[in-house]
Amino acid sequence: MPKPTILVTGGAGYIGSHTVKALQQVGYKIVILDNLVYGHRDIAEILGVELIIGDTNDRALLDQLFSDHQITAVMHFAAYAYVGESVTQPDKYYRNNVVGTLSLLEAMVAANIKNFVFSSTCATYGVPQQIPITEDHPQAPINPYGATKLMVERILQDFDVAYGLKSVIFRYFNAAGADPEGAIGEDHQPETHLIPLVLQTALGKREAITVYGTDYPTADGTCIRDYIHVNDLADAHVLGLQYLLEGNQSEIFNLGNGNGFSVKEVIDAAKRITGKPINVIFGDRRAGDPPALVGSAAKAQSILDWQPKYADINLILQHAWQWHQKRHA
Ligand SMILES: NC(=O)c1ccc[n+]([C@@H]2O[C@H](COP(=O)([O-])OP(=O)(O)OC[C@H]3O[C@@H](n4cnc5c(N)ncnc54)[C@H](O)[C@@H]3O)[C@@H](O)[C@H]2O)c1
Repeated sequence: MPKPTILVTGGAGYIGSHTVKALQQVGYKIVILDNLVYGHRDIAEILGVELIIGDTNDRALLDQLFSDHQITAVMHFAAYAYVGESVTQPDKYYRNNVVGTLSLLEAMVAANIKNFVFSSTCATYGVPQQIPITEDHPQAPINPYGATKLMVERILQDFDVAYGLKSVIFRYFNAAGADPEGAIGEDHQPETHLIPLVLQTALGKREAITVYGTDYPTADGTCIRDYIHVNDLADAHVLGLQYLLEGNQSEIFNLGNGNGFSVKEVIDAAKRITGKPINVIFGDRRAGDPPALVGSAAKAQSILDWQPKYADINLILQHAWQWHQKRHA
């Protein structure tokens, strides 16, 4: 029997595009909805997939999409995700990430589509009380971006009770790396993530990388983060979808590596892998950066049988480096 059709919102973006590829590899048919504010038009051609250019806030478009395509599940990556901008322009974030998602969920209920996979974030936890962070850790986001994701998590609980809409919520730690086959990778504009910034510095596209804070209570004084390979994230989404399609209850999973790396460790590893000098500027701490964010993904490993293949910072950097060299050639 042919596999069902999945709507992937934000599928022209970084994590969405890698997930589209993973879904295709196991036979799903995909339709992408992306407004291309941050996504890349060429993804549709590279992956050979239908791209509908449009916005989750456009209810008429969603109704038309659900009437034209027989969609069985929605994977919802579409969101704005710049933490700093969410502080200065919270309205933009609440409208896109909360109101846009609500409009999508309402259209799903109207079209009787009952399966939803949602991209949440470790930013919903706020400053961790203990490490590694498990799913039952209290959620107290310290910026509007994290708050928008937590609000959607709450909406999903209520839609499950009221309308039987089942969801898998994935709280990602830091997505990193690129497709090992090299066709797609991380290309945010503007870029704020550490690994691409470091690699762009190695390529000479940036003068230097700034390290914010060297006096944190960590072994080398720099912040520790949990980096998870984007293809491992994509595999988890395939398993999460399968879990929902088997009729299981709504569930929440962390997706991380379980291993933290400091900013200095990432830069040192990048120097080894690229063989290039990387200029570093040591700056002051930024407001709102917890010293360490490391997640436990034991629940996803046991319930979804998720086995990360690339849980190694060197592999993550190698794949990202391969992509960056090609992208900036
Ligand atoms: N990158 C990370 O490390 C990380 C960590 C935790 C959570 N997340 C979440 O994962 C998701 C994907 O992140 P990413 O890094 O791939 O970001 P991205 O910006 O590369 O992808 C998001 C895509 O959504 C599209 N989009 C945004 N708003 C839209 C709307 N209203 N309608 C249609 N399309 C819209 C953008 O054009 C973009 O292509 C986001 O929801 C983000 O909050 C990312």
